[in-house]
Amino acid sequence: MEDQTEPTFETLTVSEGEEPFGSASEAGDVVSPIHLASTFALPGLDTEMRLEDVDPAAGEFVYGRLSNPTRHTLETRIAALEGGGHGAAFASGTAAIFTTLLARLSPGDHVVAFEDLYAGTRRMLDDVFRSRLGVDVTYVDATDTENVAAALREETAVVWMESPTNPRLALCDIAGIADLLADRDVLFGVDNTFASPYFQRPLELGADVVAHSTTKYLNGHSDAIAGAIVTDDDALAEEIRFLQQVGVGAVSGPFDSYLVLRGTKTLAARMERHEANATAVAEFLDDRPEVSDVYYPGLPSHPDHELAREQMSGFGGILSFELDGTIADAKRFVEALTEFTLAVSVGGVESLIELPAAMTHEPLSPAEREALGISDTLIRVSVGIEGIDDLIGDLRGGFDAMNRRATTPSADR
Ligand SMILES: Cc1ncc(COP(=O)(O)O)c(C=O)c1O
Repeated sequence: MEDQTEPTFETLTVSEGEEPFGSASEAGDVVSPIHLASTFALPGLDTEMRLEDVDPAAGEFVYGRLSNPTRHTLETRIAALEGGGHGAAFASGTAAIFTTLLARLSPGDHVVAFEDLYAGTRRMLDDVFRSRLGVDVTYVDATDTENVAAALREETAVVWMESPTNPRLALCDIAGIADLLADRDVLFGVDNTFASPYFQRPLELGADVVAHSTTKYLNGHSDAIAGAIVTDDDALAEEIRFLQQVGVGAVSGPFDSYLVLRGTKTLAARMERHEANATAVAEFLDDRPEVSDVYYPGLPSHPDHELAREQMSGFGGILSFELDGTIADAKRFVEALTEFTLAVSVGGVESLIELPAAMTHEPLSPAEREALGISDTLIRVSVGIEGIDDLIGDLRGGFDAMNRRATTPSADR
């Protein structure tokens, strides 16, 4: 067998950062313990000690907001999975994104963002950064890099992207945008929540920082709210760490850190299964007469299918589709399902279904939704890892219920 110097991604998911006799454990635990202490005993009074010199990697801890062994292990793991030198774990994906943007933005700055962003991030940009902090924001259709180029200004300090996006699964050319920004002092951030580092690594494509709602695939079991960022940029990492620990303080707690760390161990196996099931569901939906469009990067009909093949190593487990009917049809369809749970969020082992216009993207105005192509009958699906026959059977039952009720004259009364 050849000598392997670099561990594979799968090996990193299982063991990176967890050393049975390392800084986080003295007992030899093969999994990182949950360290609940809010404060840590110091060996003596060191009048020379400066808090910024305390090094968690060397097993030095002072106070739980600054650092914590369980959180530190998670930060080390996620940094390795995204291929960056610095990781920071937060109380939510929202906190991770907010802290990262705050690290770079000042009043008078300008942000260029993908128009099809997660609605919460759009609201943060509009209602916090624009309205309260004097930062201007331009949303563009970033499926065409030319639109990003056209929106750049002298004051542009951040370009913020997601790929694939929520809920239309649109892609932007991450390497193309990185090239565009190469000679500018602009922070290029990519929210990699939908793809996960198993299928896409934005830092390798030229992004400066990657953000995650680890609530989703990295945890994978719908039982923690958490977030993370990874960067290779030392100065940016220092600023983010200052805000994470001192300026904002929205850190990931020990128990959530433990859950996300545990989730990462099965990431590769889960993502493979999510993708296989999502592909089968996308193909099934594509053949249904009640469905006018299916948005899944793995379908050759997806407008960015070729780009997806280039910049991702798989297509993920989330898709959306356009029901050719009314909102009443959509309601009948989703309410008839038993394997797919009607719920917001994505990335857990269980299949979830939702109507963005009525649920996740309800905070956007009808005009904004229309501009983004989010119709009242667009349905988003996070395909879980259940048996595919059960999932397809459930969807078939949903269409049957919708068609039965639709042809019953009294059904809509
Ligand atoms: C793409 C994306 N980014 C960020 C977030 C926000 O993450 P959190 O809910 O963990 O704050 C979400 C949540 O749905 C999301 O889908």
